[in-house]
Amino acid sequence: MSEPVNAESAVLQKTFELRILRYTPGRDEEPAFGSFQVTGAEGMTVLEALQTIKDTLDGTLSYRWSCRMAVCGSCGMMINGTPRLACSTLLRDLPPGPVTVEPLQNFPIERDLVISVDAFVKKIESVYPYLIPKEQKTVAEGPHLQTPAQMAAYESFSDCINCMLCYAACPQFGENPDFIGPGAMAMLQRYNGDSRDGGRQKRLDTIHGEDGVWSCTAVGICSEVCPKQVDPANAVNQNKTNSAFDFFLRFLRTEQPQ
Ligand code: SF4
Ligand code: FES
Repeated sequence: MSEPVNAESAVLQKTFELRILRYTPGRDEEPAFGSFQVTGAEGMTVLEALQTIKDTLDGTLSYRWSCRMAVCGSCGMMINGTPRLACSTLLRDLPPGPVTVEPLQNFPIERDLVISVDAFVKKIESVYPYLIPKEQKTVAEGPHLQTPAQMAAYESFSDCINCMLCYAACPQFGENPDFIGPGAMAMLQRYNGDSRDGGRQKRLDTIHGEDGVWSCTAVGICSEVCPKQVDPANAVNQNKTNSAFDFFLRFLRTEQPQ
């Protein structure tokens, strides 16, 4: 008689090596790699490997995560030198050999794989990331209706999960941390492209300056690394056009005969 098949034992197990950048400011002189061997299901993600390390090998390992399903945007890190979400990166999809895991580049390290998000949050806040109704309506007057075409104008930008992968990939942000950056531009366009919104001018005013939209050198790698196909490079391009148009209109207004 044949043995009953145990589904769990049928899952292929594999051992992976992860090289993880470790750093505790104030304690360590500089960041240094630590190496870990992790055995788990062949289809395990980088995040699951980190969780196995924390649970069984080194409880001091620090990293951010929450949803485990590419929604919260908190598990961004450099995986083999590319900004990626740890929860949606399968180890088996990476080239054979040790997997290098580092904190998102271009951001200060708080500890191990955890970076400081303070400056990024300020950039997002600076573009008024909420609907500023063009027209006030009471609940009794009903919803602000929108056609499918009006929704399509901003829908892809509303998929941004604030993961900051685009900032880690952006050479201009690497050079100038004050550059407003691709994610904030995508957020801005999500609202400026919304037919119900009346805050366009306020938002445009925040991106005309030296560290605004014109700092972008159109490399486009932000869109390549975006895990949600938001296409932040497209948002930047649209806002270069909008900023130029706005400047031209202002110029016309100031040149009006008295
Ligand atoms: S635009 Fe894409 S890569 Fe940038 S923060 Fe949003 S989801 Fe992340
Ligand atoms: S844990 Fe939420 S995006 Fe990865």
